[in-house]
Amino acid sequence: MPSLRDILHFYADSGVDEALQEQPVDRFAATAIAARRPPAAPAPSPSPEPGAARRGDTEATAPASRPSNRTDASRNEPRLSVPDEAQALRARELARQAATLAELRDLLAGFDGCNLKSTAKTLVFADGNPNAGVMFVGEAPGRDEDLEGLPFVGRSGRLLDRMLAAIGLTRDSAYIANVIPWRPPGNRTPTPLETEICRPFIERQIELANPKVLITLGGPSAKVLLHAQEGILKFRGKWRTHETAGGLAVPAMPTLHPAYLLRNPAHKRLAWRDFLEIKAKLRDLDAG
Ligand code: URA
Repeated sequence: MPSLRDILHFYADSGVDEALQEQPVDRFAATAIAARRPPAAPAPSPSPEPGAARRGDTEATAPASRPSNRTDASRNEPRLSVPDEAQALRARELARQAATLAELRDLLAGFDGCNLKSTAKTLVFADGNPNAGVMFVGEAPGRDEDLEGLPFVGRSGRLLDRMLAAIGLTRDSAYIANVIPWRPPGNRTPTPLETEICRPFIERQIELANPKVLITLGGPSAKVLLHAQEGILKFRGKWRTHETAGGLAVPAMPTLHPAYLLRNPAHKRLAWRDFLEIKAKLRDLDAG
């Protein structure tokens, strides 16, 4: 019989390090109860606003015998937003309204259309110098980034700093952001809809920073920003173009994610080649 400590270690190793509710919910019991219920009659009135409807579902499926553990305080908690297409549309409209990076950050901070915000501790918007002319975009913040509110400050961030230094860059001469600005709980992969909701904001961020060169770090970022259709190992290392919504064409280099390089150090030589390309491109742009 594993001890509680073993189980907690197992959870931590699996990336489960967030409790989403104060009390555990027995989903197996909820499923069994739902299966015994007769099919629900059709709703008499138009369905409520999507976030509220799904929140209701969660409560309805809790075991009937279990007393509600909601307190007055929890009733006043911010509403959990369930991602839907309407939020993706709203994100596109909002992102367009931002005329500066500061405005974009404020808009994101006030945007409740992405459920990832409700589990993240902070908004991880960017680090570095937006006027640097070179912008790096990763996938999503991890635990360290969520705690500090800055991208790439954990182990993979330290490797990224060394990679930047190898081509003469620092956080003062590069701008760094992520496709997703809120940490997904337990570092899970963001869903396609969460990504779709966040996409307009990072696209606008790139447009407003207007870098001479964009570097995507890892497969998900290459997929979102460069429409990569093949795996990152095949897609990396060639100059591509990122088209902004406003019609700007930004030269873009897809490369490997530092977290991947930590797990696969033999592939650092591939990333090194990509970084030499970036260095040469920046030199050419400076000269020309
Ligand atoms: N991985 C990312 O993609 N972004 C971060 O900010 C940290 C780790």
